[in-house]
Amino acid sequence: MRVSHVYKAFGKRPAEVVKRLKSGKSRAEVATLGTAAVIDASFEVNRGEIFVVMGLSGSGKSTLIRTLNGLWAPTEGSVVVGETDISKISDKELRKVRQRKISMVFQHFALMPHRTVLENAAYALEVQGVAKADRLARAEKVLSLVGLEDWGAKFPSELSGGMQQRVGLARALCAETDILLMDEAFSALDPLIRREMQEQLVVLQSELDKTIIFITHDLNEAMFLGDRIAVMRDGEIVQIGTPDEILTSPANDYVAQFVQDVDRTRVLTAGGVMEPPLAVVNLSGGPRNALRTMRDLQVSAAFVVDRRRMFHGVVRDRDVMALVEKHGSDLASAVRNGIEPVTPDTALNDLFGRAVESPIPLPVVDDAGRLVGALPRVTLLAALGNVPSTTGEFPVVEAATAPLPEQLVTAALAKTEGDA
Ligand SMILES: Nc1ncnc2c1ncn2[C@@H]1O[C@H](COP(=O)(O)OP(=O)(O)OP(=O)(O)O)[C@@H](O)[C@H]1O
Ligand SMILES: [Mg+2]
Repeated sequence: MRVSHVYKAFGKRPAEVVKRLKSGKSRAEVATLGTAAVIDASFEVNRGEIFVVMGLSGSGKSTLIRTLNGLWAPTEGSVVVGETDISKISDKELRKVRQRKISMVFQHFALMPHRTVLENAAYALEVQGVAKADRLARAEKVLSLVGLEDWGAKFPSELSGGMQQRVGLARALCAETDILLMDEAFSALDPLIRREMQEQLVVLQSELDKTIIFITHDLNEAMFLGDRIAVMRDGEIVQIGTPDEILTSPANDYVAQFVQDVDRTRVLTAGGVMEPPLAVVNLSGGPRNALRTMRDLQVSAAFVVDRRRMFHGVVRDRDVMALVEKHGSDLASAVRNGIEPVTPDTALNDLFGRAVESPIPLPVVDDAGRLVGALPRVTLLAALGNVPSTTGEFPVVEAATAPLPEQLVTAALAKTEGDA
């Protein structure tokens, strides 16, 4: 979807409002002529992306999203969906686009009270003219996607608010459109149910590969869901960026204030705050090398990798020293693999429990199992407090126990001089 220089003004003379805005007048200066709800909005949403539009009440979010499926014609500018410029097509064609390409879910989704949940979910297909048996079968499938498989025969009034909202989502999914527009779709839900819905939406998105444009005034929701976020203020988009970018380099004070209260632990990921692992030893380098490295870095433990940098586990200086003194040559026998590595996309929120238990930084490995970073506890804490997390001053592998005294290690190495 490509949105180019979209303006939407309401009131007596919308075209004049836009003309004056373009000549440099402010929103307030043109207020007597009409309300400038959306001012010069331009952005692209990629296939399969969750694009969030965030902003305070009245900033123009709903107006913007309504121009995306042609519910409002922009006063100026264009909206291109796939290959179709929807500001240039007939009403009939536009209806078809809405049926086949773009579904919408609102905050208060109006279900039809005298129809069952299943029939409600199937409604979009009914509009499309799909035969009854076929549409009910498809609706059944989407109901199970949103966790309502046992509720199809009930009526909306028998469902809780959260469940009704799920039926709304099911109806939108049932249309099998590529694009979902969601305007405050979860805002009326209780916080816990809302969290659950957010998590479910992320899963659904990855399974169904929908393109989702999600509107919210809730920053945590925006940060959790968005691949990218557009921040609106007084009709204008003031910043577009990834959650990390918005959080770490807000474009102006408005955005900065907005992001002040965000729950950073849900937004930031292991990959976003991890540090380069310094105390790393090579499996094929042997125990003596490993011991020397740990002595030089003054650490009591180190990560073990192989030549391809695949993560194998952790060695402790005491174990390696014992191995050296026994003239052992296989470092693998000293490796402890009880420490489970984490992936870069893990939310910090999910790591605190583990970090508390582990005196050793958590190893971060990529999908292939290669060691890419380390997360010491201090880094997790720094991320919480929004202080720079890459201090570079902390040994990346630190253990609860102090490292072995340097002289002791040196003596052991000297005593076994001839070993490999
Ligand atoms: N149909 C309309 N006629 C006149 N003015 C409108 C209309 N719809 C919206 N506006 C005005 O446009 C501005 C933006 O409204 P919009 O509903 O897009 O905001 P929003 O960001 O969705 O707010 P909220 O978070 O409260 O839903 C507001 O000043 C509003 O009064
Ligand atoms: Mg709105």
